[in-house]
Amino acid sequence: MSGKKAKRIGVLTGGGDCPGLNAVIRGVSKACIGTDGMEMVGIEDGYQGLIEKRAFPLDWERVSGILTLGGTILGTSNTANPFKWAVKKTGDSVEFADVSDEVVRYIDELGLECIVAIGGDGSMAIAKGLAQKGVHLVGVPKTIDNDIWGTDTTFGFDTAAAIATEAIDRIHTTAMSHHRVMVIEVMGRYAGWLTLSAGIGGGGDVILIPEIPYDIEKVCAAVLDRSRRGRRFSIVVVSEGARPKGGEMVVKQTVKTSTDPIRLGGIGQVLARAIEEGTGLESRVTVLGHLQRGGTPTPFDRVLSTRFGVKAAELVQNGASGVMVALRGDDIIAVPLSDVGGRMRLVSPDHPLVDVARRLGTCMGD
Ligand code: F6P
Repeated sequence: MSGKKAKRIGVLTGGGDCPGLNAVIRGVSKACIGTDGMEMVGIEDGYQGLIEKRAFPLDWERVSGILTLGGTILGTSNTANPFKWAVKKTGDSVEFADVSDEVVRYIDELGLECIVAIGGDGSMAIAKGLAQKGVHLVGVPKTIDNDIWGTDTTFGFDTAAAIATEAIDRIHTTAMSHHRVMVIEVMGRYAGWLTLSAGIGGGGDVILIPEIPYDIEKVCAAVLDRSRRGRRFSIVVVSEGARPKGGEMVVKQTVKTSTDPIRLGGIGQVLARAIEEGTGLESRVTVLGHLQRGGTPTPFDRVLSTRFGVKAAELVQNGASGVMVALRGDDIIAVPLSDVGGRMRLVSPDHPLVDVARRLGTCMGD
């Protein structure tokens, strides 16, 4: 876990983007550049840049003024995996190759003594694989899904939750005016954190998450019960990964070349139709989609991203490797990448937040 102090550091952002990536790049770079002659190198488009040999010097000027900027100045890719790189596509079939040895050689060519890999669970699993090949790496956990094992929260989540909550607030007023059932589909993949947080923050009447399969009759009963009590509208907040009891998630698309080939989406439409049929009440759907990933990070995410970046710099400066920075309580700590890669942090059905929702009378679909 610990070795020679690195002087020349590569930084990459992998997987889906989220607010706060630039704040981490800025944090780690500013804390490194100039310290003991350290230098930073930006790798373009995540692991794809390592495969296709695309990197550039990252100086102070390039990392200045980006704290509040959404997206990533480095670019990203959620299809590039050095251990499973799509080399040939013929019609529907894809041929993969393990190009990780070439990636290790390119890292040597660049003279990089450590790589700071900012990414989600897929990126951490790749980082773990490269660390096993002797590459010095420090991971930084990002994602709006908040599903990375080992950290209390990822950066990007707070911003996405704020955006989704504001969207629910806006939908509330139109729901009330038209006496409609409004279904709001929220991202989060296989984890319900974003839906749960926005659902509670936005006062959702029904909250459906992947970890608690729903019974459509219970959902319709909850909506009808509100209607009978004079509440002529309902707000249903549903995770893109939610599924009915005994049923499957709704898959929008399968992308064979991706590290995670399943693209979820469409449950909102399915649910709105089922609610309309089951209750006779007019229903509408809003899919929040990539709005949740764009724009300026919240103050919480700016601070967390900056703390993560500065901690990553400290770890690199101390010669640490094979670790991921993580938030534990109020502290930023390092956890072994070997514990993180390949694991997912999901909402347990008895999580205190689920209990809070239930105690308010929110229907969780079960
Ligand atoms: O992991 C972040 C995320 O936004 C998920 O919530 C969502 O399922 C997925 O990425 C969407 O991926 P893409 O940007 O490739 O459509």
